[in-house]
Amino acid sequence: MTLPAPWDQYPVRISAATSQAELEAIEHELFGRKAGVLTVALQEVGKLSPEERKNRGSELNAVKQQIEAALQAKLVELKSASQGFLAQTDALDVTLDLPAKETGRLHPIHEYIREAEEVFGRMGFDAVTGPELETEHFNFNMLNIPETHPARDLQDTFWVSSLDRTVMRTHTSPVQVRYMTGRKPPFRMICTGKVYRKDSDATHSPMFHQIEGLMIGKTVTLANMKAVMEEAVKNLVDPDVEFRWRTGYFPFVEPGLEMDLRWRGDENQSREGRWLEVVGCGMVHPNVLKNVGIDPDLWQGFAFGFGVERMIMIRHQIPDIRLFFGGDLRFLRQF
Ligand code: PHE
Repeated sequence: MTLPAPWDQYPVRISAATSQAELEAIEHELFGRKAGVLTVALQEVGKLSPEERKNRGSELNAVKQQIEAALQAKLVELKSASQGFLAQTDALDVTLDLPAKETGRLHPIHEYIREAEEVFGRMGFDAVTGPELETEHFNFNMLNIPETHPARDLQDTFWVSSLDRTVMRTHTSPVQVRYMTGRKPPFRMICTGKVYRKDSDATHSPMFHQIEGLMIGKTVTLANMKAVMEEAVKNLVDPDVEFRWRTGYFPFVEPGLEMDLRWRGDENQSREGRWLEVVGCGMVHPNVLKNVGIDPDLWQGFAFGFGVERMIMIRHQIPDIRLFFGGDLRFLRQF
């Protein structure tokens, strides 16, 4: 039923109201105790003749009822909208299984590096880092690597074409030089970080991590080196790990050695497993000491460079180095 004028405007305004305050203002305009338009109109009914009073009275009562119903309905609507979903359903399912919040964590390689810093820290080694973008001078020259050495072959090294004589470091050994320059021995340091080589297969990745180590003193020997490295692999790979020593050639050590660990990660291998080279090492070459101003007749020591991924591969029997960098969370969450 549409209301007679002037009341017909109210249902329209009520349904257009967007807030409870707006609704209250309309209610006050109509029903205010002294000046409400409907209040006043109802009061005036009393002044009419008995005949008129009856008609006018029932007309205004119908108007009043209809407006009150419209106000009430609109109030419910505005309240439930402001309380949102729960006000309408009026039920809370406490058994609902909500997705757990994802929290980040360190990549297994970085967790491992922290562990290594702790193991070497217990043996008195200081932990440092160096730049990944390196000059030819530090990456090769200062390490007694002549122009003709195969490590300089374009096959292995990423040269940075936009910068003169600059490479993505091929190993962490340049940090030995950076560390020794301007420092006085004795010292023990390790340097961890990324290195880059043009190489990719199950046991090689164009980017991988190394742990470089250096210990210089007056009486540091090859026996000390073997003791430190055996302690390291027992702590960082397996207390019962099988290892073997071989001679190896690196221009910046003399003599040079390599340590292999028994690897069972590759299922296609025989039951004997197979050996995986994890570290190159040796006694620091006198030329390297001379290059940084340390007298090789007074000081001597050893250096080593572990391949981080390979140590983890042996610890956890992982068949392929590329799994570390594939970003597959099913792999990464296992650690
Ligand atoms: N820098 C060598 C490499 O990357 C490893 C190494 C480090 C060898 C220190 C000897 C001494 O292969």
